[in-house]
Amino acid sequence: EGRLWGGRFAGGSADALTELSRSTHFDWRLARHDLAGSRAHARVLAGAGLLTTDQLAGMLAALDDLEADVVSGAFGPLPSDEDVHGALERGLLERAGDDLGGRLRAGRSRNDQIATLVRAWAREELRVVAGLLLDLVDALADQAASHPDAPMPGRTHLQHAQPVLLAHHLLAHAWPLLRDVDRLRDWDARAARSPYGSGALAGSSLGLDPAAVAAELGFDGPVENSLDGTAARDVVAEACFVLAMAGVDLSRLAEEVVLWATKEFSFVELDDAYSTGSSIMPQKKNPDVAELARGKAGRLVGDLTGLLTTLKGLPLAYNRDLQEDKEPLFDAVDTLQVLLPAVTGMVATLRFRTGRMAELAPQGFSLATDVADWLVREGVPFREAHEVAGACVRRCEERGVELVDLTDADLAGISPRLSPAVRDVLTVEGSIASRDGAGGTAPVRVAEQLAAARSRSGGL
Ligand code: ARG
Repeated sequence: EGRLWGGRFAGGSADALTELSRSTHFDWRLARHDLAGSRAHARVLAGAGLLTTDQLAGMLAALDDLEADVVSGAFGPLPSDEDVHGALERGLLERAGDDLGGRLRAGRSRNDQIATLVRAWAREELRVVAGLLLDLVDALADQAASHPDAPMPGRTHLQHAQPVLLAHHLLAHAWPLLRDVDRLRDWDARAARSPYGSGALAGSSLGLDPAAVAAELGFDGPVENSLDGTAARDVVAEACFVLAMAGVDLSRLAEEVVLWATKEFSFVELDDAYSTGSSIMPQKKNPDVAELARGKAGRLVGDLTGLLTTLKGLPLAYNRDLQEDKEPLFDAVDTLQVLLPAVTGMVATLRFRTGRMAELAPQGFSLATDVADWLVREGVPFREAHEVAGACVRRCEERGVELVDLTDADLAGISPRLSPAVRDVLTVEGSIASRDGAGGTAPVRVAEQLAAARSRSGGL
């Protein structure tokens, strides 16, 4: 029976407790990490003289044998197993016998074990997520590189604001993702401390070497405090935050794709492979990947807030509530590992209607700031320049024309400061090229930016 306690209990557990307590349906995915921890633990038991050389060899052989059966699926949890640790101890006893197998648990607790396993698992999986985020950065960068000069309407408040390069806009979605990757790397440095050796809460009395276990499991070292090692889950919550942040970043990109794919915008055409149809409306082509990205962001935020709510107010040290850390983390990782390849494929296969975007880029008086900037270069105070440019917009609205259509007489009538030469700046290309300060949308700056983004995304 995969229960790791019972000596002081006269009777068995109520079925309702067993049902409630069982965690194998989600923590079984930690089995390989538990076995790795067991091998490291066996070695430090031997180092402390608690296993002979022969016993250590027998233990390691039994653990290898068990791992092979776990990997092949020949060994798995039974309904009577409480958690991954209990199931694997049962498997060990079956292979090594009660006398040898029963020695492994000395000096460790499920509390330090589980805290270690969840970190080890997350470190491995978040590296995968970081790679998937970089794939999306590459897809955005490739699209930017394919459209080096295409203009589009830049927006604030979703209203036309100033023209920008499509490449600039696409890269604006890449930078947050690169920061998410930075956050994952930075998180890893904090996650790289092993709680093994903390025992249940107070540390171990058996002369074990937590640094050796940490090193064998790929950690930078053991935790500094055994209470903290077993009770803290900020590392898990922080992982959930970064995953939720990535989800929110994806949802903002996704919302734009949804808008761009509408008839009204008509900025993009989705590839057939990344869009769906309607069961009743034959004409429909829906941006479901983008909508699911938007929707999954809510789920990722839920994973984070659920975990933070679990942690709030928990006294030190271990409490069983902490078992609830795993499903939100697993869900967040699973969600992004499924979502990211789909979003990357959608972005890589988007076809941009650059003609349509260019046509709309100067509309909505998006060059009014260029009029004001021209006046400033002519020596007009900006406050007055803003007024004059605003008056130009008003005149255009009255006449139902765009800024570039104002006649010489219109310009002279609005302000003596205006001359026909102002029309030279009233082009999308001129406006974009003029914004050549650091980080601006001018083609030279965007080319530099693209190179910088590419060098940041190269190699984990
Ligand atoms: N399954 C538990 C968890 O996920 C670990 C076991 C600790 N149980 C206990 N009664 N101390 O956190």
